Amino acid sequence: MGLGRLLHDHAEHADAGGTIDHPRAYELMAEIGFLGRRREIFTRLAALAGARPGHRVLDVGCGTGYLTRILAPVVGPAGQVTGVDPSTPMIECARRRAPDNCSYLVGEGQALELPDAAFDVVVSSLAVHHMPAAGRGAAVREMFRVLRPGGRLLIAEFRPPANPLLAHLVGMLTGPAMRQSPRELLGDLIPQAGFHLIDEGDLPVMLTYVRALRPAARP
Ligand SMILES: C[S@@+](CC[C@H](N)C(=O)[O-])C[C@H]1O[C@@H](n2cnc3c(N)ncnc32)[C@H](O)[C@@H]1O
Repeated sequence: MGLGRLLHDHAEHADAGGTIDHPRAYELMAEIGFLGRRREIFTRLAALAGARPGHRVLDVGCGTGYLTRILAPVVGPAGQVTGVDPSTPMIECARRRAPDNCSYLVGEGQALELPDAAFDVVVSSLAVHHMPAAGRGAAVREMFRVLRPGGRLLIAEFRPPANPLLAHLVGMLTGPAMRQSPRELLGDLIPQAGFHLIDEGDLPVMLTYVRALRPAARP
């Protein structure tokens, strides 16, 4: 049994999606997977997200809340970070470690129980490949809906190794969805939802990101 099967409550097929329900095992795997550089890499992600003091930030598929806890001091006491994840054990773990300005909800990215235009920044790290393929478009549209006009989106995803053998090995360990490139996962979903693409780039240890803006007024 691969480690992906151990951690993910999901089917064999890359399109099926699934939650992670073992927060302690996930934390351990993430520390190992990022080769001890997880904090450095996620601090860079938080900076790329463009959050400022006083901002309201949403993390979709927040897992144990690792990125929310890095964003918490960035937005400061006047700001608020909200994490959403469908896995109750992950949300319970996040709540146990929550700074004062962080809160967490159990829910799916495809159907956010959050008001329109409620956030200045939406982030999502390593979560889109966990969503069922048929729901990814709805999830990106939900990110658009809950962002205020002029708000910013950052999606970070896994970047499989270019070497096909290594990519296969990583996929065996982590699950089939992680064999897909971010382009396969996201396609044109971000512009189709109404976002303007800002840029995209790579980060160390197999991460890639895309940044986008909800235009101030729809064209
Ligand atoms: C690989 S973890 C990433 C967690 C966290 N964002 C991080 O970077 O450490 C993927 C997370 O996506 C969550 N997830 C699964 N299906 C989801 C969905 N439909 N909507 C939002 N999150 C989902 C899983 O439960 C899991 O916590």
